[in-house]
Amino acid sequence: MISHARAPGKIILLGEHFVVHGNPALAAALDRGVEAEASADSEDLIVSKDLGLECPIWSPSGQLEPVAAALQKLMRDRSLRGVKVSLKSSIPVSAGLGSSAASSVAALAAVANYFGVTVSHDTLYNLGMVSERLVHGNPSGVDVYVAVQGGMVYFKGRDRRVLSLGQRYPVMVACTGVERNTGELVSRVGAFKDRSPSLYRTLAKASEKLVEDCRKALLKGNAGVIPASMNFHQQALKTMGVSSPQLDGLVREARLAGFAGAKLTGAGGGGCIVAWPDTTGFEAAFSRFHSKHPNSFTSYIPSEGVTTWQTPS
Ligand code: PMV
Repeated sequence: MISHARAPGKIILLGEHFVVHGNPALAAALDRGVEAEASADSEDLIVSKDLGLECPIWSPSGQLEPVAAALQKLMRDRSLRGVKVSLKSSIPVSAGLGSSAASSVAALAAVANYFGVTVSHDTLYNLGMVSERLVHGNPSGVDVYVAVQGGMVYFKGRDRRVLSLGQRYPVMVACTGVERNTGELVSRVGAFKDRSPSLYRTLAKASEKLVEDCRKALLKGNAGVIPASMNFHQQALKTMGVSSPQLDGLVREARLAGFAGAKLTGAGGGGCIVAWPDTTGFEAAFSRFHSKHPNSFTSYIPSEGVTTWQTPS
């Protein structure tokens, strides 16, 4: 028998970086993510098809070490042995779309399912955070929360909720192709906060107000407030030094193509942008942008959280 799990990637619609310092963020699961397949193997291995890497769970090194650390915790506490977990991602890695959180959550869920161990969403979140803390020192947890729960998520410290929305919204994601280091960018914002405390406070306060307004509006089925809030956040993130010329260029082109809101998503410095259509529609704007950037893609948000299933071997 083979156990499978799929966990979604994410976009942060509003509030990245501020969320690390206790402010709220809105994030949503993408309809793409990471699939994990767990099967019998005496070696206890992780295989990444995308990275072309193989890593022993009990003596890991390199890029798969965070996933191995989370699996070690799951398996050691329950004396589980004899599995190989293979990962395949449909989102780019190190691009701000939550591939590391989706990888660990999918791997954990597939391995737990393979051994017939029931793990709650809270346990999956806590185990996923073991991995995320190795990826960067001070994670808010929003990526792992979305990978587990799916949905549109309001996240502020320990106040974490999936918002119940009446509809799904199309967004466009476009990537710079530039990989970046989340920990370094989180430190950059920390340094900005220390250097310019009053400006940081002003930006954080405005961000908080917009996130709260958008949360309330979305719950009433009114998405009209989202694009302007996204545009404000792009400016704020740029001011704090985490945008880049490539990100600014994609944001500009998305706006010219007809998207009403566009901003970097995730840590910035490289990675991707997310764009939101105006009321005249998604398709025309997307096809204008896509003709110049064929790697851009559409995702419907929000999508479901981690799921598991089995197939015969
Ligand atoms: O780029 P990512 O997927 O690592 O997202 C990071 C989001 C931050 O707010 C910058 C960090 C965090 O832990 O929330």
